[in-house]
Amino acid sequence: MAEFTLPSNSKVTEGKSFKAEGAKNSRTFRVYRWDPDSGANPRVDSYEIDLDECGPMVLDALIKIKNEVDPTLTFRRSCREGICGSCAMNIDGTNTLACTKGIDEVKGDVKIYPLPHQPVVKDLVPDLTNFYAQYASIQPWMQTETPAPPDQERLQSREDRAKIDGLYECILCACCSTSCPSYWWNSDRFLGPAILLQAYRWLIDSRDEATGERLDALEDPFRLYRCHTIMNCTKTCPKGLNPAKAIAEIKKMMVERQG
Ligand code: SF4
Ligand code: F3S
Ligand code: FES
Repeated sequence: MAEFTLPSNSKVTEGKSFKAEGAKNSRTFRVYRWDPDSGANPRVDSYEIDLDECGPMVLDALIKIKNEVDPTLTFRRSCREGICGSCAMNIDGTNTLACTKGIDEVKGDVKIYPLPHQPVVKDLVPDLTNFYAQYASIQPWMQTETPAPPDQERLQSREDRAKIDGLYECILCACCSTSCPSYWWNSDRFLGPAILLQAYRWLIDSRDEATGERLDALEDPFRLYRCHTIMNCTKTCPKGLNPAKAIAEIKKMMVERQG
């Protein structure tokens, strides 16, 4: 059996191959498969798809494979328009959203793996338990001492509101964190770019009154400072956000409060 090696060096064998008989415009999707209940090693199955009978996005092809070829294929998806973050996976070597990645953006076979360096639940579904626990750890909600004005929201100037642009759009897809080598090796202690961007979103919100406590919680050799400005996070974010900049801003806040 042919054999090749994933970036994580786990051995994966060649699996089943499905053909699209009679297709004039076809493409092969090579998809990572692993079923923990089977006891077998991971494999890569090949599915040839007739592109004339398929929507334009990689997610369309996965849905077609599941509906028409192999119902055992497991992946997550919901919104189909880049908002829920659930279809994040590694496509053609890049972490991205299957629903916004065009098949025509990939040359040759379309190689699809789960997000790297996370435990796998099944096939393309990563186990993000640690990621979500890290999100909860930064207390991602507004914290205030001052009571809200009677019968009124807490107001913010236009300038202060603009400071959370580029942050509130994060859909917590985990593409950035799972592209970061520091996170690969230290995800038990380093919060990673997605969670740090979220932490900054609350640090910079003019209405939040827990800035000091939030910074205290990040003042740690691992939680924040394991970011070594590798920049994979910003390069891969499918929403065009800049988690590396958010992390740099937190580090700046740390320095400023010392001086
Ligand atoms: Fe996804 Fe971008 Fe948010 Fe990271 S910063 S979790 S890549 S949307
Ligand atoms: Fe990682 Fe991004 Fe920092 S890739 S090391 S979090 S700049
Ligand atoms: Fe929601 Fe892709 S299905 S982001």
